[in-house]
Amino acid sequence: MSATLLDGKKLAETVRNEVRVGVAEFTKTHGRPPGLEVILVGEDPASQIYTRNKEKAAKEVGIRGKLHVLPADTSEDALLRELDRLNNDDTVDGILVQLPLPKQIREQRVLDAIRPDKDVDGFHPVNAGMLASGRPSLVPCTPRGSMRLLDLAGARLEGARAVVVGRSNIVGKPMAQLLLAANATVTMAHSRTKDLAAVCREADVLVVAVGKAELVRGDWVKPGAVVIDVGMNRIELAPAKDGEPAKTKLVGDVAFDEAKERASAITPVPGGVGPMTIACLLDNTLVAARARVA
Ligand code: GUN
Repeated sequence: MSATLLDGKKLAETVRNEVRVGVAEFTKTHGRPPGLEVILVGEDPASQIYTRNKEKAAKEVGIRGKLHVLPADTSEDALLRELDRLNNDDTVDGILVQLPLPKQIREQRVLDAIRPDKDVDGFHPVNAGMLASGRPSLVPCTPRGSMRLLDLAGARLEGARAVVVGRSNIVGKPMAQLLLAANATVTMAHSRTKDLAAVCREADVLVVAVGKAELVRGDWVKPGAVVIDVGMNRIELAPAKDGEPAKTKLVGDVAFDEAKERASAITPVPGGVGPMTIACLLDNTLVAARARVA
């Protein structure tokens, strides 16, 4: 058996088109477009790419997207002052601070300082708490995108066994909450889980977000399971040589070629969850803008 590929690129385009329509309507009604401010502190190359993509994607759907790049030695106080300014700017509907932050800045203090109604990442403890209480408000983008991919797969979540590997605040924990809200029986597995392979083999729905290249092998996948691979790991195929850069490849947390022989549906890496994360960020910005003017 070979699994159905869950095309995140195509689904993200559908979501972006929906957002574009909503943004045009919002702009016409309120005389201004929704505004998204993305803050990058420092020069991490991957974060530079992610934040530029977020700004560009926002502009493409008519959102007023703005990227602020602050120097790597920015103090925590200076960043908090900038957030205060954006919190109080009425034309700003969404604020996102790209993670990770340089080590002189405490991540939790920064995330706590973003107004919950502008927290389009859904990382503020108020938004995490609302989700955990069954009253979701702004929900983290990667889990939201993953749920849309499960919907695309036609996965029956009610009563299903779902296993989430990884317990981060960004993906694992909110993903487990969304699956629970959809009436799945949810197990959260992590780096200390005993016999992870056996736990994964129980999953009708398997979501993996640990950042370890090809950790989940084909024989960890229950035949017929739906697999969502959140991982994005760059592995080296050949080292740099004779002035040529190293040859690298992006792989997920799941050994794709093995897993696709057992799963009924699976996300590719790249082109699965990744594009959905940005699409859901745009949607969260529209949701935040609408809620703020309501
Ligand atoms: N770094 C990696 N993923 C994310 C994300 O979803 N949001 C932010 N702000 N930073 C990240």
